[in-house]
Amino acid sequence: MDVVDADITQLVVDAIVNAANESLLGGGGVDGAIHRAAGPSLLQECRELHGCPTGEAKITKGYNLPAKHVIHTVGPIWQGGHLREPELLSSCYRQSLELAQKNNLTTIAFPAISTGVYRFPAEQAANLAVSTVADFLVTCPSIQKVTFCCFGHSSAMLHRNAIETL
Ligand code: APR
Repeated sequence: MDVVDADITQLVVDAIVNAANESLLGGGGVDGAIHRAAGPSLLQECRELHGCPTGEAKITKGYNLPAKHVIHTVGPIWQGGHLREPELLSSCYRQSLELAQKNNLTTIAFPAISTGVYRFPAEQAANLAVSTVADFLVTCPSIQKVTFCCFGHSSAMLHRNAIETL
């Protein structure tokens, strides 16, 4: 696992993960950036997926992105932490990795899912993300590299701290 402070749309990996909403029809934040960089064909393919429930993930091609694929996952909206938000966030990381494994992908990059518009507390989210990915990688040697692509220094530090305290 590694951490970079970068724009996920620039990463040359097998798949970047999109922090989408249940419609899968685009939005702001990283969702908007990925659709802008991928081009209109991405939205066209997403339309055929008929949405995605929170905590689950679906895969498309990457189109004009340097990444071969986009794995769209829908993080939980933070509502205080007593409505299964931590479980659902963990599920986003796990199901995205399961989808990568099923598609024989070996390198994948995640944004800090749910920590923007969905307001999930950033430190708790970083700890959950890192522990979920670390647990999954123990069982899945075929995934060679997972990158936490953070957008800003503080998010990157939270993920680095989470890895150090594993
Ligand atoms: N590269 C990497 N990370 C990014 C980028 C980018 N280009 N742009 C934003 N981010 C970061 C944000 O700084 C935040 O840490 O992605 C993280 C997730 O923030 P959001 O994109 O707001 O996603 P989320 O909180 O999961 O909310 C999802 O927002 O954009 C809409 O359609 C989306 O309704 C959905 C909701």
